[in-house]
Amino acid sequence: MIRIEAHAKVNVFLRVLRAREDGYHDLASLVLPISLADIVTVQPARELRVDVRGRRAEDVPPGGLNLALIAALALAEASTGGMGATIEIEKSIPVAAGLGGGSADAAATLVALNELWECALDAGALADIGARVGSDLPALLAGGPVLVGGRGERVEPAKVERLWWAVVTLDFPTRSPDAYRWWDEDGGNTGPSPWSILDAAERGDAETLGPLLYNDLERSVVRRHPEVGEALQALTQAGALGAVMSGSGPTVLGLARDEAHANEIADGFEGSIVAHGPP
Ligand code: C5P
Repeated sequence: MIRIEAHAKVNVFLRVLRAREDGYHDLASLVLPISLADIVTVQPARELRVDVRGRRAEDVPPGGLNLALIAALALAEASTGGMGATIEIEKSIPVAAGLGGGSADAAATLVALNELWECALDAGALADIGARVGSDLPALLAGGPVLVGGRGERVEPAKVERLWWAVVTLDFPTRSPDAYRWWDEDGGNTGPSPWSILDAAERGDAETLGPLLYNDLERSVVRRHPEVGEALQALTQAGALGAVMSGSGPTVLGLARDEAHANEIADGFEGSIVAHGPP
């Protein structure tokens, strides 16, 4: 049996550069894994199956092809390893929330099955398979903060000192194809060069970083879902150093000075989560 923590991610900044011919968008983003995690366990079995358990299991749409299963099938196809395994996912990361939960589970599944099936694929080969499964996988396979480019397949390690976040989830999902399409429809705004963000993140300087956080998808999601804008405003009013939407939303993040400050902010938001990143 192999057990791996599948960490959620937040986007410290997310810059959408352009729409591409293939339907994706070129991005630049600082992807930060956080302490919030699902647990992925794999064990040998005759067939391939995925069991989702835990307090958020019922949020996973039934009948849908789980991304972890797609990852397992892609690995089986790319290697000469075994085909069978039971993949158990203990779900804590909110689903379709912009926190990369499904991608994190799929990334952890690739790593775990590579070991269980003795495929002996190196990190580069796993990232190539991951990129075919989903744009967030290469970043989440890296196992630390990364600067992401291309549609997500270009990944380089970044230095980030521990940052504390109040993670406020909203009770509706947003789908990434919608968020990117809305960005197109709204004329495609692109945020500033991120060098000052990278510098503040590297120093763990939350006071400087707070007002610099941005996500190019945010404005278009807020237009369609005013609740997201209200949550961002409420986070600022609650004393967050900065507030930003994560990924394609709808989760919003409040940056805090430290753990106590993150708890203080989170207290005002029912069901919110305090997390730090890197884990
Ligand atoms: O790669 P993934 O399956 O996660 O992407 C889901 C959808 O999100 C894509 O089909 C596309 O509409 C959008 N997307 C994008 N540009 C990216 C990543 C995702 O347009 N870099």
